[in-house]
Amino acid sequence: MGKTRKQVFLFQLLSFWVLMTGIKVVQSSSSHHHNGHHRRLHLLGPTKLFVFGDSYADTGNNPKSEKPWHEPYGITFPGKPAGRWSDGRVLTDYIGSLIGIKSPIPYRRRKFGAKQRHGMNFAYGGTGVFDTLSLNPNMTTQIDYFQQLIHDNGVYTKLDLDSSIALVSLAGNDYSTYFARNGTEEGLPDLVRSVVKQLALNLKRIHETGVKIVVVTALQPVGCLPYLTASSSFQRCNESRNAAVKFHNHLLHQAVEKLNNESTVAAYKILDLYSAFMSVFERQKGHPESLKFDNPLKPCCIGIGVSYSCGSIDESKVKKYTICNNTETAFFWDLFHPTQEGWNVVLRSALQSSLHSLYS
Ligand SMILES: *[C@@H]1O[C@H](CO)[C@@H](O)[C@H](O)[C@H]1NC(C)=O
Ligand SMILES: *[C@@H]1O[C@H](CO)[C@@H](O)[C@H](O)[C@H]1NC(C)=O
Ligand SMILES: *[C@@H]1O[C@H](CO)[C@@H](O)[C@H](O)[C@H]1NC(C)=O
Ligand SMILES: *[C@@H]1O[C@H](CO)[C@@H](O)[C@H](O)[C@H]1NC(C)=O
Ligand SMILES: *[C@@H]1O[C@H](CO)[C@@H](O)[C@H](O)[C@H]1NC(C)=O
Repeated sequence: MGKTRKQVFLFQLLSFWVLMTGIKVVQSSSSHHHNGHHRRLHLLGPTKLFVFGDSYADTGNNPKSEKPWHEPYGITFPGKPAGRWSDGRVLTDYIGSLIGIKSPIPYRRRKFGAKQRHGMNFAYGGTGVFDTLSLNPNMTTQIDYFQQLIHDNGVYTKLDLDSSIALVSLAGNDYSTYFARNGTEEGLPDLVRSVVKQLALNLKRIHETGVKIVVVTALQPVGCLPYLTASSSFQRCNESRNAAVKFHNHLLHQAVEKLNNESTVAAYKILDLYSAFMSVFERQKGHPESLKFDNPLKPCCIGIGVSYSCGSIDESKVKKYTICNNTETAFFWDLFHPTQEGWNVVLRSALQSSLHSLYS
């Protein structure tokens, strides 16, 4: 074991930079000062994170009537329910810490007119690019909120946006809404096309506000989420759902390539949650941390019987769910969302594969 924890962390940080921004280490010289030898390396990094999307990224925008404001959500972090769809930290928190900033404040907790140093989180659980079963604001409206802060209130200046990165999470609520309303897979390819088209428009809008780097998640393997594996006692992923996911991700890669072709720098990046989740499930060699999950498809928090889900209570306030003894041994928290440890492993896996692609 030659590497100290700190070295590993720095290594990860560097690979995160490569993943998100391309090489950003630039040499600047002050040659106009006649002491041209005085060269310094600057690590140009974003200092603000703006976040859009759904429950994978939401850190507390959803209304207090919703699940993550009630037990047992938040038991690991911050120790009580606080609006995250997990036992603890979620995607946004990990991206923030990789950049080296605090997790940005949720939009609903912003202070009027105040510049929020670390950016802002506009993501709302349950939402998609189109309207879903949730009443929370869709992605278009979330971007409207951001633009209002820039244009009307002047909260963020061009300089701020220059040092910003955006994270856009789309975990599939447009599709689950479609299945809930329509049942069949007929018409799904058309929906996938229009979802990706709308998503690409949204990414472009975010970039046009002046945000330098826009990172969008590729869909995770939805067919492996516990709500679809429950029927096989959490043993088998639904392959037909994963096929639709692959189609979505294929179109997304094309759309992002097109956006990058049209912009002067490669401003758009994909965070490949599909491969990252899959590498955890497949317990690939070189990812020993994934071995800690007995059955990664089985969630920690499970409703009792078919009519209850994680966090449910009956009329007499009796809990209608069970939770595992150790949240660190579960990849999924509830039927849809990873645990904090799940997110931790997913992000590490994404970093490792980005490094791998650098050297291969
Ligand atoms: C998003 O929501 C707004 C407000 O409800 C609605 O007007 C708009 O059509 C929605 N956008 C999309 C793309 O569905
Ligand atoms: C359900 O799918 C069918 C077949 O593609 C389509 O004609 C219909 O409009 C869909 N209904 C909804 C509510 O999306
Ligand atoms: C997989 O999902 C599809 C679409 O939701 C559904 O029709 C099918 O029955 C599921 N397959 C399995 C094996 O559960
Ligand atoms: C992007 O540009 C490359 C190189 O010019 C080209 O081969 C590719 O087809 C373009 N991709 C898209 C999606 O437009
Ligand atoms: C949790 O721990 C208790 C006491 O050690 C044990 O009886 C129980 O079987 C454990 N439950 C699970 C799901 O591992």
